[in-house]
Amino acid sequence: MSDLKRSLGEAVAAAFAAQGLPAELGRVTASDRPDLADFQCNGALPAAKVAGKPPREIAAAVVEALSGHPLLQSVEIAGLGFINLRVSPGALSDRAREIAGDERTGAGEVAEARRIIVDYGGPNVAKPMHVGHLRASIIGESVKRLYRFRGDEVLGDAHFGDWGFQMGLLIVASCDEDTFVRTLMDRLTGTAPLSPADEVQVMGALADHIDLPLLDRLYPEAAGKAKTDVEYRDRARRATAELQGGRLGYRLLWKHFVKVSRVALEREFHALGIDFDLWKGESDVDALIDPMVRELDAKGLLADDQGARVIHLARPGETKKKKAPDGTVYEAPSPDPLLVVSSEGSAMYGTTDLATVLDRRRTFDPHLILYCVDQRQADHFEQVFRASYLAGYAEPGSLEHIGFGTMNGPDGKPFKTREGGVLKLHDLIEMTRAKARERLTEAGLGGELEPAEFEETAHKVAVAALKFADLSNYRGTSYIFDLDRFSSFEGKTGPYLLYQAVRIKSLLRRAESERLQPGRIAIVEPAERELAMLLDAFDAALIEAYDKKAPNFIAEHAFKLAQSFSRFYAACPILQAGNEATAASRLTLAVTTLKQLELALDLLGIETPERM
Ligand code: ARG
Repeated sequence: MSDLKRSLGEAVAAAFAAQGLPAELGRVTASDRPDLADFQCNGALPAAKVAGKPPREIAAAVVEALSGHPLLQSVEIAGLGFINLRVSPGALSDRAREIAGDERTGAGEVAEARRIIVDYGGPNVAKPMHVGHLRASIIGESVKRLYRFRGDEVLGDAHFGDWGFQMGLLIVASCDEDTFVRTLMDRLTGTAPLSPADEVQVMGALADHIDLPLLDRLYPEAAGKAKTDVEYRDRARRATAELQGGRLGYRLLWKHFVKVSRVALEREFHALGIDFDLWKGESDVDALIDPMVRELDAKGLLADDQGARVIHLARPGETKKKKAPDGTVYEAPSPDPLLVVSSEGSAMYGTTDLATVLDRRRTFDPHLILYCVDQRQADHFEQVFRASYLAGYAEPGSLEHIGFGTMNGPDGKPFKTREGGVLKLHDLIEMTRAKARERLTEAGLGGELEPAEFEETAHKVAVAALKFADLSNYRGTSYIFDLDRFSSFEGKTGPYLLYQAVRIKSLLRRAESERLQPGRIAIVEPAERELAMLLDAFDAALIEAYDKKAPNFIAEHAFKLAQSFSRFYAACPILQAGNEATAASRLTLAVTTLKQLELALDLLGIETPERM
């Protein structure tokens, strides 16, 4: 099953090739002037340069070759030599029927399935999740769903941040905060494990002393203190190294931190419809690190750098300008070397990432790992990727950073709360839900719903508002957080799309109660034509989103589809079509639109309510 654009593209490409011209010039695109044509090809203009002939002459030969093509009603030359193609109503009706009969409403699959890991979300133990993690989660979830939908074998991994310096900070902060914890830590300094019964007791005692609100308070305080207090920072560094070295008390305390954070995080992710296949953490590769370091050393990749061990990554001539503390500018190798073992002997962010590449290769052997992480970490990933390739842990090109811009406040800087702190994801969800309730009420929606269903609908509206606002932008672009706009039922928003989907659902319920059956599609009216053309464009949108790892192409398609349906519904009555065959055809178009719209929304991670 092929969409019209592809089928016509092939025909036009063949017509170019028949004139001895490059077939690529035969590319067709959706027409800029839907009133004149469905598709257009602009290739005759560049072809004219290649062939040394006037563009209209080339276009004429293409038109000639295409005349009588079964899909076409007309093919014409316009302006300087543009080729305008109009699909015949019969061919369009056939294609619409084909889409209507397909579970996937015309969406194709990859020719060869690959094993893919999407590393996204990236929450950290005890550091409250903030809006930066929101984008990683929303975009990553969508990319994961899209890749899986197109047939790849995909695993989504949260890559929980549970092994770095922040753990040392929390250990030190907890000891300073609570005498019981400190005493316990002073007693359990060895590395031999406790008996299971003793461990249960210790874990229970820790739970009595350290809960989530306390962790939420301790982390920012400790992080702030470490910035100015060198001695404090060194203590935290030592604690990090000792934790990684297996000091029993620290391990148990750490285990407790991880447990407490995980519960809260899972709840928040779940509320957002984000589900990881793997909840692996940085700590999961701990056992791989020592052998990895030895192996890197044996391969001659490690160099000493003031007591630390690094991998040099810059190739000869790769430099960037750097500023020394005294202000002089000099050329330094770029990218920076990857820090593998710190001078305290601990594993760093890059170390765990490198070992994770190795671990993933051993356990899943992926063709591709996509890292859906803030663009500001681009240098980090450049380092990790180069080191992985050098060490032979991944095929060159098989690691890719899908970076994204920031969600900004009205001041154009990364979003902060009014008090200037980072907004916790939990509060953001609450805030958006409150807004969604307000919007529903204001729009006169949801009034007939039972309280529980109203709540559920408000939640879906809130999630749609947040996710669609994010995913409708190309991921690389930063955008301004504007809850009023995001949650409106009008405009290019998630709630608008939900509203359109719910409208179709209610129409279908009415049709059913009037015993109206969907039937054979026949495309006649311009609004039907426009809708059928959009249904046909789904696969191309998915392919573009897939290739560019950019869900905004799906968002764009969903929005256009909903708008087109709205025009169709206004112009083409269904229940009052006046004739059974027309009503049946339009009903099938409505059923198919809903199916495709819900598929597209699902790929964005957005669920539609039954009613509003
Ligand atoms: N935990 C990290 C952070 O909050 C993000 C992790 C991204 N993934 C990775 N493999 N490094 O910045």
